[in-house]
Amino acid sequence: MTQLTQGYSISSLVEEDEEALSFKVHRSAYRSEEVFRAEISRIWGHTWLYLGHETEIPKPGDFRTRTLGGRPLIFCRDSSGEIQVFFNACTHRGTILCRHSEGNTKFFQCFYHAWAFSNSGDLAALPGDDAYADSAAFREAMKLRSVPRIQSHEGFVFIAFDPDVPDLMTHLGRAAHYMSLTASIGPAGMETLPGVQLYAVKGNWKLAVENAMDGYHFAPTHNTFVGYLRETGFAVTDDDQYAYDLGDGHGLLILTGHNGRIGMVWEPRFGEAEKERIVAKRQEMEDRLGPERAAEVADASRILYVFPNLLLFDLEALTIRQLEPVAPGRTDVRAWQFVEVDEPADVRALRIKTMVSFVGPGGLATPDDIEAYEAVQRGIEATADSADPRYDWSDMSRGMANEKKGNQGRSIDEGAMRSFWRHWASVLGED
Ligand code: FES
Ligand SMILES: [Fe+2]
Repeated sequence: MTQLTQGYSISSLVEEDEEALSFKVHRSAYRSEEVFRAEISRIWGHTWLYLGHETEIPKPGDFRTRTLGGRPLIFCRDSSGEIQVFFNACTHRGTILCRHSEGNTKFFQCFYHAWAFSNSGDLAALPGDDAYADSAAFREAMKLRSVPRIQSHEGFVFIAFDPDVPDLMTHLGRAAHYMSLTASIGPAGMETLPGVQLYAVKGNWKLAVENAMDGYHFAPTHNTFVGYLRETGFAVTDDDQYAYDLGDGHGLLILTGHNGRIGMVWEPRFGEAEKERIVAKRQEMEDRLGPERAAEVADASRILYVFPNLLLFDLEALTIRQLEPVAPGRTDVRAWQFVEVDEPADVRALRIKTMVSFVGPGGLATPDDIEAYEAVQRGIEATADSADPRYDWSDMSRGMANEKKGNQGRSIDEGAMRSFWRHWASVLGED
């Protein structure tokens, strides 16, 4: 059992008592350097991680750079059209190879000694290669290093740094179905819009997971947005909304009463033209997917969490969000807008407007949420080393009594957070 310097073992940071209906998380889980290092090594080092969507790099030569679990990576499509994921480190002495966040190239050239690698990883040129014993063999040995595992589901590309992780579909389990629902919205498929929203949050990455799985905060935290929806004639309700434990740390909220869905569930601020389009869109979906599947795709909003770093918001706007832990109290969040391929320009415009007004970093909801993570992190620092150790625990017991009776957990309870934390403790508590 891993002991922390404070005297706790990592698995004892989550304390559950089913009899007493009590569930608590020790606050060092959000602020300890040791816990953070254990997460990077045991979770980020040994689990499938969401890297990006195939449609971010549609053309041969397209690339994006990003960092997962602290490791800089190049996500690219090589000249033959294959997706490649390399460590963004020159094989010569380790220099960061590509220093752009995105672009299109046939070669990545290191600025230090000018080695040039093709977009399929071959060492194509190096100055003065006659100084090596066998230049061809040397080049072969010094190819770019690929990440050990790359797999995708519905265009969502995942990687793993551990070559021995089970297959991606085994990892995704029941979450795969909900990714497929969102992927089947567009008759010609789905794609990410160019551009990424990147923002740094002064809070632990797990606070972003909790926030997404927490319907309890919606009405009080987002009261400006809720008031705005009411003023536009939309009735907001928390009734009949549920939370699901999808296993292996993945979680799902199914929401019917928070907002409309472009192309699927009308609300007044979408305008009259959208009302008519929704009828036609439903028919198209029923013809293509069958009535049952069309209803499952369209009728309710969903927030899907795929352990550990992917959030898929299929709400009034479709957003893919990726969490990158930078330090115990610091997280980088990347968000992409996910849209139907070939949708009409006015629908695309409505989608972007809705995205920007709610889930975008300057919208009516996301700044509230970021303020919540940061306020929680500041409060968590406040109770560190308290004279009374009981002060330093957070409570997540809401809804345990209801669940004990065998009822499905509600979105406004804390069941989805409990399943996340149970999985977290089981992964981190392993020797
Ligand atoms: S470190 Fe890249 S060429 Fe030397
Ligand atoms: Fe929120």
